Amino acid sequence: MTHDEGPQFENALIDRLGRVHTNLRLSVTDRCNIRCFYCMPAENVEYRPHEELLHYEEIVRFTRVATTVGINKLRITGGEPLVRRDLHTLIAELAKLPGIEDLALTTNGMLLGEQAELLKAAGLKRLNISLDTLREETFQRIARRPGVQQVLDGILEAQRVGFQQIRLNALAIAGLTEQDVVPLAEFSRSHGFELRFIEFMPLSAEDVWDSERVLTGKTLRRLLEEAFGPLVPAKRNDPHQPAVDYQFADGQGKIGLINPVSEPFCGNCNRLRLTAEGQIRNCLFATREWDARAILRGEADDDELRKLLRDCVAAKQPAHGIGADDFEKPQRAMYQIGG
Ligand code: 5AD
Ligand code: SF4
Repeated sequence: MTHDEGPQFENALIDRLGRVHTNLRLSVTDRCNIRCFYCMPAENVEYRPHEELLHYEEIVRFTRVATTVGINKLRITGGEPLVRRDLHTLIAELAKLPGIEDLALTTNGMLLGEQAELLKAAGLKRLNISLDTLREETFQRIARRPGVQQVLDGILEAQRVGFQQIRLNALAIAGLTEQDVVPLAEFSRSHGFELRFIEFMPLSAEDVWDSERVLTGKTLRRLLEEAFGPLVPAKRNDPHQPAVDYQFADGQGKIGLINPVSEPFCGNCNRLRLTAEGQIRNCLFATREWDARAILRGEADDDELRKLLRDCVAAKQPAHGIGADDFEKPQRAMYQIGG
């Protein structure tokens, strides 16, 4: 047993391939304050009505039950999680749950300026902030809204209030963000942020994905090495992390490449997801969901939730199959699943 899997749970969430599920991603809303083209439609977004979303009490109950079957890492996602009202109150409840060793949040950073301090005080441990470019023009082409300065201010505020190990996630898109690769790396290492590039996946609401638009980890590595010299593979401290980390040759800073498309990491996946309206998913690319909300809102007891989690994990496919002839794009886009 590796250290990060914590105590042995006799009823742990182990799938047919022996993958032990310890990591839960909770989406708290499908709403967002920007409109990244690789995720959302430009106009007329059909959000779920509020009553369909899980209440905070329901999310906390679900998570508490999940900790009894081995979940010990949580990540809050959206949509944009910071648009959900009083998110810090949910964080405070989750932070109190016994068995939770890590509590992180993924955000686009637009509202961090206002909320960073509250989030820190509530017990949030780590932040991943999406930042694909430092250029306002490119930001607007991606997000279809202005805002790069607001995001940068939010990132610096998060650092000021004491968040450690802030991670920046950059989605890399061929023909659009090649020029951003080196400046993002400079920015990150000069401020002490960890930067991770992620490949464009077929999870957009509009049909904009094309394998030609995937800027692969291999190309990114070449662009980075041209500017900074050889990247030195860093020690892996978590075998489940999807990123391959590198150290810059001069020792200043770290950079990660997440290559879900060109080098799938499904074999080590330990993740489950709960959508904002309470459906459990065993993969970003799953075509089926398990209805936890029905149980949470019915008379059933916690054992029913544990059974649902086990059923969902038992049905997990070996791999996502992007690129295979019979690959089926999921019905939901990223903002409706939670990144
Ligand atoms: N492919 C890869 N990553 C995506 N994200 C959103 N849509 C996609 C996609 N199609 C990422 C965002 C953000 C996180 C929440 O999900 O860049 O970092
Ligand atoms: Fe919003 Fe994140 Fe989707 Fe961009 S990727 S539109 S920030 S939910």
